[in-house]
This record gives sequence, C-alpha cells and structure tokens, in this order.
Amino acid sequence: MKVLNFGSLNIDYVYCLDHFVQKGETISSQSMHTFSGGKGLNQSIAMGRAGITTYHAGAVGKDGDFLIELLQKAGVHTELIRELSQVRTGNAIIQKDKNGENCIILYGGANQEITKEQVDETLECFEPGDYLVLQNEINEGSYIMEQAHKKGMVIVLNPSPMDDRVLEMPLEYVNYFILNEVEAGQILNDSASGEVQGEALAKRLREKFPGAKIVLTLGEKGSVFVDDKTVIQQQAYRVETVDTTAAGDTFTGYFIAGLIQGLGVGGAMDQGAKASAIAVSSLGAAPSIPMLEQVKQAVF
Ligand code: RIB
Repeated sequence: MKVLNFGSLNIDYVYCLDHFVQKGETISSQSMHTFSGGKGLNQSIAMGRAGITTYHAGAVGKDGDFLIELLQKAGVHTELIRELSQVRTGNAIIQKDKNGENCIILYGGANQEITKEQVDETLECFEPGDYLVLQNEINEGSYIMEQAHKKGMVIVLNPSPMDDRVLEMPLEYVNYFILNEVEAGQILNDSASGEVQGEALAKRLREKFPGAKIVLTLGEKGSVFVDDKTVIQQQAYRVETVDTTAAGDTFTGYFIAGLIQGLGVGGAMDQGAKASAIAVSSLGAAPSIPMLEQVKQAVF
C-alpha cells in the first residue's frame, strides 16, 4: 500500500522574538533561521521518517531543490514533484515568540500552480486502497479529492489552513478528518458548534459526515478519535516547548504511518502524540520531526 501526499513545499523564514509584532510596531528579531517546511512537506517527512512508502506530489520553483533533497533523505519518493521555471517556491514568514508559539504568513508561489493535468498524471500511479493525504496549502484540492475518490483511494484530509476552499471541497468523500476544534467548528458552520468541544464536537462532525472517522486534536488536552463504534482519548505528552511549528503535521504523519503499520487507531494516536511532543522540543518545522527510533525510545 502506498501513500500519496499531494501538498505544499515551503521555505520557512523563522524570526525568533520576545513577542509577536503588534499593529504599528517595529521590532528586531533575536535570530533568524531558514528551514524546510510547508504542511505537505512536513507530513511527508514525518511519514518517511516513520518508515512508510510515501510519494510527495506538488511543485517548487528553481529555488526549491533543497526541499526535494530533504524529502529524499527521509526516504520519500519525489518524482511527482514538478520544478517550475516561472514562479518561486512557496514560503512562510514565521514569528516565533518566547513561549514557542507562532504566527505565520504564507506566500503560495509554486504551491498554487498545480494543474488538472498534473493531478491526472499523478493519480495514474496509484491504486484503489492507496492513501491520499491532503491539506489546504495547494490549489485544485477539490479536483484531487474527486479524482482520488473515483479511483477508490482512502482520503485523509487535514483542512489546514482553513478557508472557504475547504468548504467547497467534496467533504463527503473524506475517510479521515484530522483537524483541530476551530477547523471542526468552521466545517460544521452552525451557531451551536462554538459551544461544543472535544468528544462532543467530534461526534457532531461525524453526524454530518457519517462515512468519516474523526481525529480531533485538542492542543494540551491531546486528541480524540471518533467513529461509528469507538471513542478513543489520547493524552498529550508534556515537554518543554521550544517551537510548536509542525507539531500538528508531525502528529498527522505519524498517525497515518501508525495506521498503515498496523498499530490500530489507539497505537497510531499514541505514536503521533509522542512524535509531536518530540517535534515541539526543538526549533524549526521539518528539522524538528523525529525518526521512528527516537519516537519508540522516547520516555516522557
Ligand atoms: O504547519 C507548519 C507549517 O505551516 C510551516 O512549516 C509553514 O510552512 C506553514 O505551511
């Protein structure tokens, strides 16, 4: 079984600050770093480092070769990534404050130049039962989902960053939602959803999409899984926070890997929680994502 992650590849420019810049304020950063990132790339790196067969599809500009090399080092197949000559690689301006929290500005670049022809050619390499992993940092998300559904692929959606394009996707085709409470509330789009949290919110989302399994991430409270028969609560492992960037991507990648490795949903959630705790203990997106051995040996 193969996993296709059709997703973004970004160059992350990370500015380390005491606090996030305010309206009208100019501040100097304590340090500045350039890292590999993008929700798509981070999730592929996590799956590659976890040891499952992962193909990344997407697009970079001529300045994005190092992102492809990093994916290859993580064991990810990169032949489905296109290098475009007229556009630069997507990037993210990331402010990281003294508590390790972040805020991010995205520039789509090559991530927004996916064509239907690339989608068709990419999906030809996959079979019914293979997994498709999608986020919301590339264009043509709806078309990718429609075509993957026609093919009988298992569709995993991490609807992040959330915007109207997600609401236009054929969400009834999604087999697994991996999302946070804000994203779940926005997909439900009803006045009552703001008052409902945790397990109850996950159950509401499943009522709306009865064919889907829901993994709702709850920050410091961990995560909860809901399907037709099961509810599983997963704790978050406590660590000293250096940088939360890519924590969710690491959870997503290691959760999917755990499912495919046969750990069961509970085991996959635990693996995701451990891997993401390790990721928040160091700086950067892709560089902070651990290898499987580190995750297995971690003691919290
Ligand atoms: O989820 C973290 C990622 O979001 C960063 O690597 C940045 O590129 C943005 O896509």
